[in-house]
Amino acid sequence: MTDPILSVRNLNVTYLSSRATLNAVRNVSFDIGREKVAIVGESGSGKSTVGRAVVRLLTPSAKITADRMDFEGKNLLSLSERKMQDVRGRRISMILQDPKYSLNPVVTVGEQVTEAYRVHNKVPHKEAKERALAQLASVQIRDPAHVYDLYPHEVSGGMGQRIMIAMMLIPEPSLIIADEPTSALDVTVKLQVLAILDDLVRDRGIGLMFISHDLNLVQSFCDRVLIMYAGQVVEELRGDELGDAKHDYTKGLLASLPRIGDRRGRLSVLDRKDSWSMPVEKRP
Ligand SMILES: Nc1ncnc2c1ncn2[C@@H]1O[C@H](COP(=O)(O)OP(=O)(O)OP(=O)(O)O)[C@@H](O)[C@H]1O
Ligand SMILES: [Mg+2]
Repeated sequence: MTDPILSVRNLNVTYLSSRATLNAVRNVSFDIGREKVAIVGESGSGKSTVGRAVVRLLTPSAKITADRMDFEGKNLLSLSERKMQDVRGRRISMILQDPKYSLNPVVTVGEQVTEAYRVHNKVPHKEAKERALAQLASVQIRDPAHVYDLYPHEVSGGMGQRIMIAMMLIPEPSLIIADEPTSALDVTVKLQVLAILDDLVRDRGIGLMFISHDLNLVQSFCDRVLIMYAGQVVEELRGDELGDAKHDYTKGLLASLPRIGDRRGRLSVLDRKDSWSMPVEKRP
């Protein structure tokens, strides 16, 4: 791995409610350099909570602690909210599952990219528009001038996701947190979006945190894979070494994947161990 862009040690996140406290993330440690690092695990294992904790975008009732959460030499946990907004806007970008909720429905997609450009670069509208068109072309949108004038509901999910990526790249972030960015897309569009993310890591040296529940996908796409279960990282492997997993949970996950050409009758089902579960403490 190259020098880490993000270095996290012993991250803990607790959701507090009036009735119980849930330790959703427990003692999670990892580094991300100029590479693709996957966080995989089943629903509820804490993947999104880790991603959002890094940018401190969790509900106010969530408590975040860590020995260290260093990003470009700054401890993210000790930054003021104002400084943190700056980090979110310029240095770390988030790409979410469904672009429909992130784009403004009453403004054309091109104007949204142009405005995003002007927030970060004080230039006249005409120049910003040219840059926006170039930005759209860079995420493989073939007819940017046509797409520019469309409204969000007029573009497909895959194109919407590419427009989001174009907007995210304007401030030239060094880390992208992508939370299930391709889960809502069909297979061919999914591959296009993955190819764009892959280029960004290779050509621009961006670090990518790729949150997914798709083990098949991450083992071919990512350099390293963190396997989460019940709030903990139970195993960390290189993507191409996933087959050598040691932890029973990872082995169980791999065994439950269907494979083409496999004659096995039934798929195996995970045998859960009590010691793996996420602790919930009842409040008195
Ligand atoms: N705002 C919240 N308030 C209380 N509990 C929450 C909140 N958000 C998440 N949780 C709980 O924290 C745990 C981890 O949730 P998280 O969303 O991080 O999981 P995930 O791995 O991203 O799941 P998925 O694959 O479904 O997106 C779950 O038990 C969830 O119910
Ligand atoms: Mg999630």
